[in-house]
Amino acid sequence: PADSRLIDDRRLEIGGVDALALAREFGTPAYVVAEDDLRSRARQYLSAFRTHAPDAEIHFASKANPCTAVLRVFAEEGLGVDVASGGELHVALKAGFEPAKIILHGNAKSEAELRTAIDAGVGYIVIDNFADLERVIALAGDRVQPVLLRVTPDVRGETHDKISTGQADSKFGLSLRDASAAIERAAAAPNLRLDGLHLHIGSQLLELGPWRDAVEAIAPLGDFPVVNLGGGLGVAYTDAEDPPSIEVYAAAKVAAARELLGDHVRIIDEPGRSLVANAGVTLYTVESVKRNVSTWVGVDGGMSDNLRPMLYGARYEAEIADRFGGTTPSRITGKHCESGDVIVAEAQLDEPKPGDVVVTPATGAYGYAMSNNYNGIPRPPVVFVKDGDARVVVRRETFEDLTSRDID
Ligand code: LLP
Repeated sequence: PADSRLIDDRRLEIGGVDALALAREFGTPAYVVAEDDLRSRARQYLSAFRTHAPDAEIHFASKANPCTAVLRVFAEEGLGVDVASGGELHVALKAGFEPAKIILHGNAKSEAELRTAIDAGVGYIVIDNFADLERVIALAGDRVQPVLLRVTPDVRGETHDKISTGQADSKFGLSLRDASAAIERAAAAPNLRLDGLHLHIGSQLLELGPWRDAVEAIAPLGDFPVVNLGGGLGVAYTDAEDPPSIEVYAAAKVAAARELLGDHVRIIDEPGRSLVANAGVTLYTVESVKRNVSTWVGVDGGMSDNLRPMLYGARYEAEIADRFGGTTPSRITGKHCESGDVIVAEAQLDEPKPGDVVVTPATGAYGYAMSNNYNGIPRPPVVFVKDGDARVVVRRETFEDLTSRDID
């Protein structure tokens, strides 16, 4: 995180708290989140967009880190929120978001989810397909529900196939061909207020061009007061990625919307990853070190707290929390019963040994979000750090939690 530093060039301090002290006090594995980092990135987003478009709104895509405390921080900073399910809607409301600042998404929303969202008075429901459209019309009754239509622009951003969504054969959104009919239907429904279109072409995108292409693709569909540009900005997990800054990204998106859709259009963007990834680190304890062809450093977490290496071949860096800058090629592996459970395949550690605390930076996005209990591993706590203080905002799961839904 920006809010971290190395003491004596070797020893990590986050939010003014020593990483080893955090591991000792809260145990490992643990997700550590620098609260000021969340706040400064939220402010950076708002000011980057509003410099060019004063009425722009930023909605946090809560799927990236659906932790109530994280959402509460963003609500306090004046962001809205994007939810992808009834569960995320529940968390967003609990975190204190005004319903009008919530946007509901989903390619397979249930009737119950739609009903809850309409009853809560969410700001927008993003219609994904014709079935969704008919359901919202039927459920809105005599209320007027504001909606956006999600369009698939047939544009491919360069990213992992599993998180690319803009291509014609995508499960998300209406095709360019179907969009006009959906627009007509929505505009004719007295209980919908169609404010505009929505785009999301993919996640962890590092190039700006595809967003412009996507806006260009939807421009002929009509003149609307609002456009939602769908987030998607990538982050640097290692030295290999060089994403544009939030300022450059915002300037490019606003310019594309202004030039291609007009000056009057109100811009919404919904970043997830880039608001939270760099605010979080994960702490592990080394349980075993074994040398065969590689040096295997076995830690007390793994694919249950960070599924991304396993799902997407995602790469991270790692260090020993109080001995940064090592040179022993090390393969950091989790404790799960699968060979693919490798968190960092090519780390360089300083002579790792059992008991060392290992830290993986840039794990604030889609780690906690996709955590699971594979192999009976309780999920880690989330610890907020700020100005030298640490507080648990989500407690560690217990073994009891693992059996708490059993019915005897
Ligand atoms: N809006 C919509 C409708 C989305 O589906 C997403 C991400 C976003 C916004 C935010 O995208 P972001 O700014 O975070 O790129 N689990 C995957 C990422 C899946 C992203 C899904 N949608 C991963 O760990 O890489």
